[in-house]
Amino acid sequence: MSTDRLARLTAAMHEHNLAALVLMPDANLHYLTGLKFHRGERLTLAIFPADGSTPCFAIPALDQTQAEARARLPMHYFPWLDADGPDAALRAALDAAIDPALRGKPLGIEHRVMRVMELRALEQALPGVQTSDATRILANMRMVKDADELTAMAEAARIVEVALHETITKIRPGMTERQLSSICADAIAAAGGEGESFPNIIASGPNSANPHHINSDRAFQPGDLIIIDCGAIYQGYLSDITRTVALGDPGIEARRIYELVLAANIAGRAAVCPNITGERIDQAAREVITDGGYGERFIHRTGHGLGLEVHELPNIMSGSVDPLPAGVTFTIEPGIYVPGLGGVRIEDDVVVATDGGHSLTSFERELIVLPM
Ligand code: CO
Ligand code: CO
Repeated sequence: MSTDRLARLTAAMHEHNLAALVLMPDANLHYLTGLKFHRGERLTLAIFPADGSTPCFAIPALDQTQAEARARLPMHYFPWLDADGPDAALRAALDAAIDPALRGKPLGIEHRVMRVMELRALEQALPGVQTSDATRILANMRMVKDADELTAMAEAARIVEVALHETITKIRPGMTERQLSSICADAIAAAGGEGESFPNIIASGPNSANPHHINSDRAFQPGDLIIIDCGAIYQGYLSDITRTVALGDPGIEARRIYELVLAANIAGRAAVCPNITGERIDQAAREVITDGGYGERFIHRTGHGLGLEVHELPNIMSGSVDPLPAGVTFTIEPGIYVPGLGGVRIEDDVVVATDGGHSLTSFERELIVLPM
């Protein structure tokens, strides 16, 4: 599996004229090698040669044994001790990885991940080195999931649905958002999650009109809409689901926006087929809400890519015009947010299949009205 990824990476590096790719611990290093680290102050840099040969890894000596045991592909290790510092190990790793004929070509790095510390170390080891942002190359590789990745994502979805069911059954009037949040986090762990994909969002009553609400001490009241947005991690892969429930009768307008959001969710999922664009899926969902008179209250994109990270490519929004082949995974999460009244969001995780779209999440989508 990882050797196939290395082959695809090599082709992309060739296309972008890079001398090598240099990664520090984060999702892309995990994707290529299977290795996860605590990101600390010790320099840890893996260098992937442009010719696809064995990656060279400048690594703190104390992490080497675990890395050798867990790496999914062979690597050359260049360990360094605290007393010596990383400079010599990094220089040796770069020497081994970079073909002298390619010196002068840029190194691919991740602008949103690499710190100034790592960049300065590279500049010191290779005076005059040029770098170029390889974020997009890796994002494009990760967008299409293989069978093992899809299996892990399906399990992450199954786990969060068990936890979501448990969470919803615990809702009572007078309970606070923070109390339900900790019930949700515990339920994800109890169901087998390696952790939460992100800190869950519990947005109740008027707070549900804010898509990025920070959980508060507000107590649930009769008539509240309650948005629960949560996810589980399984084998490093994430799920991300939102359901909106009502505590007692939420009223006519809340029921109306719920039905519109549900119809938009259904239309978005129905639009998915091989080589559709993110823009077309967004249009399919948005049109329902716009036709229902709430277009200006749908204030975010319809969805985002999902995998090792909670926000990946592709974006499901206007301007996203690349065709999405089978194996691409993303959320469909239309919402309507009415200040003062509250909001509704219904979010599913979808994979493009050869015969259409397949939802990894299947939790009840009709409005659940909880007894008071
Ligand atoms: Co979500
Ligand atoms: Co989401």
